[in-house]
Amino acid sequence: MPLVTTKEMFEKSMKEHFAIGAFNVNNMEIIQGIVDAAAKENSPVILQASSGAIKYARIPYLTKMVEAALEEHDIPVALHLDHGPDFETCKMCIDNGFTSVMIDGSKYDFEENVALTKQVVDYAHAHGVVVEAELGKLAGIEDDVNVAEGDAMYTDPEQAREFVERTGCDSLAIAIGTSHGAYKFKGEAKLRFDILAKIKELIPNTPIVLHGASTVIPELVEMCNTYGGDIPGAKGVPDEMLHEASVSGVSKINVDTDLRLAMTGAIRKVFNEDPSAFDPRKYLTPARDLVEETVAHKIRDVFGSSNKA
Ligand code: G3H
Ligand code: 13P
Ligand code: ZN
Repeated sequence: MPLVTTKEMFEKSMKEHFAIGAFNVNNMEIIQGIVDAAAKENSPVILQASSGAIKYARIPYLTKMVEAALEEHDIPVALHLDHGPDFETCKMCIDNGFTSVMIDGSKYDFEENVALTKQVVDYAHAHGVVVEAELGKLAGIEDDVNVAEGDAMYTDPEQAREFVERTGCDSLAIAIGTSHGAYKFKGEAKLRFDILAKIKELIPNTPIVLHGASTVIPELVEMCNTYGGDIPGAKGVPDEMLHEASVSGVSKINVDTDLRLAMTGAIRKVFNEDPSAFDPRKYLTPARDLVEETVAHKIRDVFGSSNKA
């Protein structure tokens, strides 16, 4: 099956109350781990690359590896630009066969965000590509995402309605308490499900996206730390909350940190247990396997997208 947009998978997710995992990709092993899991679970899946990932892997490699995955598996796969920083990056991805792009205008004020998003929507829709936009600010630090905790801001539901109306974006990322990276909560995890409910009430037909939604799986953190890592006090969104989000109107759940932890934990384990190892296949095979296991767990036990392909 050729690459698809997220249109049909989101329609199904809203009708049948489940979420689709959007997993960040940087290399072949991560792509294979994700699509192998999704195919075994007979689930739709979104592969997303950030501009940092595109700089690292280079666009022809990313698109061709995803093409190869589609030759092997017959499930709906969308290729999405994660956190597109500007119009030019979105255009480059659209021109290179991505089926979905995110324009992240959340760093701008409302009017600038509307104008930039609208510009991307016009170009994307003319090329059969869908657009995710963001309103509200998540805390966290990644390559191209850098928001201090004090500057984080929940999404305003009334503004969300106006934003979607004026931009024509196809899906909306909202801020309800998640954040990027491995340190999401200092105390108890807390998400504002009341804001999500209000947003769904006002824009029931707009698929909602949750960024910063890794669980920061304790077993993976422990694996990293046991084998020489130093990631103290890491904490994410518990599976139960992500499940609640999946059945409460969130259509797309973004996961990067958990895959980074899986890759790193598996590789650290090999090096720690066998310091003489230097064949990349020896450490990348268990890393790929652990990515697959992690993704399968999320699809099957948390997001509920098994057998929704
Ligand atoms: O939300 C950001 C993603 O985790 C991508 O991170 O920009 O470091 O590739 P990155
Ligand atoms: P995590 O850091 O929680 O995995 O979030 C990833 C993300 O939102 C990618 O856009
Ligand atoms: Zn994100």
